[in-house]
Amino acid sequence: MTIQIDPVRRNLKFHLPADKVTNWNPAGVHVTQFYNTLSIFFPAGERFFIQSVRNYRDKISDPHLKKQISAFIGQEGFHTREHEDYNEALVEAGLPVKGMDNLVVRLLNRVQKRPKALQLATTVALEHLTAILGDTVLCDPDLLKGCDPHFAAIWKWHAIEETEHKAVCFDAYEEVFGSGLKAYSMRVFAFIVANFIFFSLFYPFYARMVQKSGGLFNIRGWLTSLNFQFGKPGVLRRIIPAWFDFFRPSFHPWMHDNRQYLAQAEALVEEVAGFQNEQAGQAA
Ligand SMILES: [Fe+2]
Ligand SMILES: [Fe+2]
Repeated sequence: MTIQIDPVRRNLKFHLPADKVTNWNPAGVHVTQFYNTLSIFFPAGERFFIQSVRNYRDKISDPHLKKQISAFIGQEGFHTREHEDYNEALVEAGLPVKGMDNLVVRLLNRVQKRPKALQLATTVALEHLTAILGDTVLCDPDLLKGCDPHFAAIWKWHAIEETEHKAVCFDAYEEVFGSGLKAYSMRVFAFIVANFIFFSLFYPFYARMVQKSGGLFNIRGWLTSLNFQFGKPGVLRRIIPAWFDFFRPSFHPWMHDNRQYLAQAEALVEEVAGFQNEQAGQAA
């Protein structure tokens, strides 16, 4: 029996302090811009995910899965909205985010001209990537220590919800296409292509973001980033085994049981409610 988790829509507003967008993480500008670069991909990416699942909504007969799909759409919708605000703060800071977002939009528009099955497989593939990235954030409480609390909260919220809904698209995909060789080949093909494209956009974007904030020739900053990604904590090093698990014919997102992190959601909601009160206090 696979684990069943019902995603919860949390309509949270983070009121990110725009003036801190390039220095919210005490690990320095290279680490801050690593997260910021990820944020650039979310609005276009998550709209694409929503659409690709919507295309198959009528083909899903399991009422429980239907509900999970609605909640998935709700969560991704809120993520899009909050990351749009985040990215707006990046624009205000003079970062060339609009051009990068346009590139992602154009690319995903092209994918939307491909068969709908492939679009859903791409979503399943990228949802695995977001799930394991979410896990890498949640498994290490030190990662966001000392960060601006608003930015720490948005990343934690996103990581929690990516964990909560990590199996929704996968289950929808299996309900429609089964788990035979054809379905397996398509999801694995989509995973390889999507990862290749994602990382070949991510690193040039990241370098440009760092350059714009004056850190391109800062060797120490790059070493910190290298360590952050592949050393200690090694946010990308840590995801490698789970990344490869996607190639198992018997793969299911809940084969990585990390639901213990979902217990943090309640405290987080309370913390974010505090931001709203803070904001109201400032406005008064
Ligand atoms: Fe998301
Ligand atoms: Fe997601």
